[in-house]
Amino acid sequence: MKVTNLSKIYRSGRAEVHALESVSFSVADGEFLAIMGASGSGKSTLLHLIGALDTPTSGEMEIDGVRLSGLSDRDLTRIRREKIGFIFQFFNLIPTLSARENVALPLMIARKDMKESGKRVDELLDLVHLSDRADHRPDELSGGEQQRVAIARSLVMDPAIILADEPTGNLDSHNADEIYALLRKLSDEFSRTVVMVTHDGAGAAHADRALFLKDGRIVGEKKIGKGTNAASVASAYQELAHPKGP
Ligand SMILES: Nc1ncnc2c1ncn2[C@@H]1O[C@H](COP(=O)(O)OP(=O)(O)O)[C@@H](O)[C@H]1O
Ligand SMILES: [Mg+2]
Repeated sequence: MKVTNLSKIYRSGRAEVHALESVSFSVADGEFLAIMGASGSGKSTLLHLIGALDTPTSGEMEIDGVRLSGLSDRDLTRIRREKIGFIFQFFNLIPTLSARENVALPLMIARKDMKESGKRVDELLDLVHLSDRADHRPDELSGGEQQRVAIARSLVMDPAIILADEPTGNLDSHNADEIYALLRKLSDEFSRTVVMVTHDGAGAAHADRALFLKDGRIVGEKKIGKGTNAASVASAYQELAHPKGP
């Protein structure tokens, strides 16, 4: 995945918000990238653009080898469905459906064969350790369990890219660690490209690399290795995004 000189200006009346200014970076296939930034730094805007949920004011995105600019809404919708899985802070599950039905929903919408689908849904519920909760509705599940349902759902169309927008923003640190471990596994064992937005250094420490965003611009990045812990990611972010004067 590659973005080049990506800018987004929101206009409402005469006011303009420059949410992203000339952002460029690439993500290797199968890489786990964390994007760290304060509230309002443009993280969700960036994720929405990468996920073809919104269009940039200028700049170019390339997803799984396909350039997005100039594509019709119909083509963008297809790319979103087939290539991208989304995970959100507030889970976005359908409250009246069971865990199994929530995971199956994208397959039903895409009119996939339901016998094949049932098998796939069960495998994914197993992957996120929720086989014994398959018939529970979201209000009968903990926050961590709900997010694991959402992760299974994000995988059901077999996307190359998983985009997660503050997936642990509503979870305690124990549940957050489970989510980070699952995202790590998607990259390591299933060769998925994972892009996770977070302001948690502990989360970013699970990634291969962290990009630091401030006021709509990339101000730096940190490669994350075996010896990189949450504190060192957090301090690298602080130094680059909020440098102290001399
Ligand atoms: N739909 C919108 N209309 C106008 N301004 C927006 C809209 N969405 C986001 N913004 C503004 O763009 C900036 C970046 O927002 P956002 O991408 O949501 O940041 P983050 O996810 O890092 O908190 C903020 O100043 C926000 O107020
Ligand atoms: Mg956001």
